Amino acid sequence: MGNNKNNPVVEKILKLKNEKNAVILAHNYQRPEVQDIGDFVGDSLELSQKAASTDADVILFCGVLFMAETASILSPEKTVLLPDSRAGCPMADMITARQLRQKKQEFPDATVVTYVNSSAEVKAESDYCCTSSNGVKVVQSLENDELIFVPDQYLGDYIAKKTGKKMILWPGYCPTHIRILPEDIIRQKQKYPDAKVVVHPECRPEVIALADDALSTSGIIRYAARDDVSELIVGTEVEILHRLRKENPGKTFIPASEKAVCPNMKRITLEKMLNSLETMNPQIKVPENIRVKAKAAVDRMLAIV
Ligand code: 13P
Ligand code: SF4
Repeated sequence: MGNNKNNPVVEKILKLKNEKNAVILAHNYQRPEVQDIGDFVGDSLELSQKAASTDADVILFCGVLFMAETASILSPEKTVLLPDSRAGCPMADMITARQLRQKKQEFPDATVVTYVNSSAEVKAESDYCCTSSNGVKVVQSLENDELIFVPDQYLGDYIAKKTGKKMILWPGYCPTHIRILPEDIIRQKQKYPDAKVVVHPECRPEVIALADDALSTSGIIRYAARDDVSELIVGTEVEILHRLRKENPGKTFIPASEKAVCPNMKRITLEKMLNSLETMNPQIKVPENIRVKAKAAVDRMLAIV
């Protein structure tokens, strides 16, 4: 358990976790010490699959609000804890359910595909959900050629290019990923000419164009494990380097930009995790009328994965 060894806070968390039959789910962007205590560390799709399949009574979710909401949408009978209720995703907040309803009125025949980085209310207005790891697959599976994609314009643009589908894009973006600039990739490639480049599809199209591949966070983890990869320039949130280095000793990982930090992901700390298990708060619960509709969109995605 690396740096967590003999840490009294960690010991208390593990004790309470057993007593409450809790499972700790952590996203790949969490602080190293939080990742190290996770029962499962993964990308949005993997975390939602774990949340749907776990037999724990409590899910201690170390990520951001939309991820904890998705866990609650899929497992309403479980207590879902988000150790800091202010850990939101600014991109998810860039569209409201009302705005999406207006867009649907403008394009009544379009199918709505919504990135999982969205509120439960927005998911409830959607036909399909998708993540960065299955967006292309979800869109490819649809017969309708007219699609509304919200809220990430860059993931939407990436999927449109890959599938050749006409997509009506919402102008949302991730404030963390847009900090990665084409010149960052060019500079690192000059410094490490033999390195491969992988980026997250939330990056700007000019950045994606310079990369060998655009993948979800766990897609990047799998890419790094390949035998033909020994040096990798990584264009996503910097904390992913913790897991990359831990799982691939001897390989070299270079962040495309040190500026790619998601402050919301960093809100989760060991102390807040302990407090959350002690108080069983803050709990994330999606109102039943919203949950049922949002679940339909998430289930349609999970049926395609
Ligand atoms: P992944 O699903 O690739 O882990 O991405 C989640 C996210 O928030 C990226 O910014
Ligand atoms: Fe949202 Fe971007 Fe943070 Fe991911 S990295 S949670 S998209 S703000």
